[in-house]
Amino acid sequence: MSVVIGLQWGDEGKGKIVDFLAKDFDIVARFNGGNNAGHTVMIKDEVFKFHLIPSGVVRGLVGVLGNGMVIDPGILVNEINSIKNRGINLDLKISYKANVIMPYHKIIDRGKEIKNSSRKIGTTGRGIGPAYSDKMKRNEALRIDDLVSDNFYEKLKDVLNLKKEELIIYDIIRNVAELEDYTKKIYSEYKNYSFILKDYVCDVTEYLYEAHSGGKKILFEGAQGTLLDIDHGTFPFVTSSNPTIGGVFTGLGIPPSFVKKVIGVTKAYTTRVGRGPFPTEIFGRLANRIREKGYEYGTTTGRPRRCGWLDLVALKYSCRINGVNEIALTKLDVLSGLDEIKVAIAYELDGKTIEYFPTSAEKLYKVKPVYTTLKGWEGIDNDEWEKISRKGFEALPDTAKEYIGFIEDFLKVPIKIISVGAERNMTIVRD
Ligand code: IMP
Repeated sequence: MSVVIGLQWGDEGKGKIVDFLAKDFDIVARFNGGNNAGHTVMIKDEVFKFHLIPSGVVRGLVGVLGNGMVIDPGILVNEINSIKNRGINLDLKISYKANVIMPYHKIIDRGKEIKNSSRKIGTTGRGIGPAYSDKMKRNEALRIDDLVSDNFYEKLKDVLNLKKEELIIYDIIRNVAELEDYTKKIYSEYKNYSFILKDYVCDVTEYLYEAHSGGKKILFEGAQGTLLDIDHGTFPFVTSSNPTIGGVFTGLGIPPSFVKKVIGVTKAYTTRVGRGPFPTEIFGRLANRIREKGYEYGTTTGRPRRCGWLDLVALKYSCRINGVNEIALTKLDVLSGLDEIKVAIAYELDGKTIEYFPTSAEKLYKVKPVYTTLKGWEGIDNDEWEKISRKGFEALPDTAKEYIGFIEDFLKVPIKIISVGAERNMTIVRD
């Protein structure tokens, strides 16, 4: 039983790693987030993009959506249809305890971003924060079991009655008189989704327990990354869930004993989408080069990602939080052709050198990275990377091996998987 967790600000290439590992598993389970995530998997020339369904399903694994997720039913129905239309046999289990993203959550998410300009987070606008806020408020939330129940209309009516002032503030309805029509409008849309989704809804916790007892192998797939964690990330510039190890247990209802290996995924450099501190961010030609070569544009929103050097201070913190046993290093190919590569090994804060990661955004905005400069390696084209992948680790340029060795020594965690291209076969595994 393994967990795949992002060690940076998301977009580390978890989808590809999950797809690569999937052959050794029977079930792939997501435990956090919603369609703010975007996983791209490339098989031959076919591109698969997922926002909700775990990427391992294209390998024929059972896909599980845990209670820790917030689910936009319209998006999920589209994904189900697109997977089925490609002739893939879909076995999906949706937790009845997951929370539903409602149309007003998306409007409020975007509305808050405009209103709170100085505290703007740069969210994906998918309604994630407002849906999780309602979950915490409890009586203003709707869960999947409400959506598929016979009295969904009554439940929706009760919830919207509690939310009417908020709906007016955000111009979703103009006055209380419009509430009934608005309720009916949502109901008629969401009832259609519930007809399709109800067949997949079950007690995921029970299902995973039985599967585990029966010897099935489960892979847990995190969305977003450690530095976006609501508790342990760069608050308030974070998402509203726990992409870190604890989220696996609360987000699926399984015990820690189910997890035997924690695989942390990091790019060979760093990216971030949305606002918030990013100590090793770079600008100008070099940043553009990495962005274009690495195709660093959001899978969900298409926004250009901010790019920077690898931050080993942040990575060490992420490895500790999650108890990472091994690392998957992605996009090493993107750094080819650079004379020098920098990595941050400490920060300077208020004239002092610090070696820990201060998650406070205020401090992180002030820190200056202390860099070590390593030698780069020559430009390598795609065909050559394919050959290197086939031959294995020893075929990598010496300076690339030194780069990998430097990261391992610093983090004291072995790098077992190295990804050098989007396709499944562009992956090097070390014993
Ligand atoms: P939200 O999750 O839409 O509320 O966005 C909160 C922050 O998390 C924003 O900075 C987003 O850009 C970021 N974020 C959310 N999901 C992802 C992801 O899957 N990859 C990268 N960043 C993400």
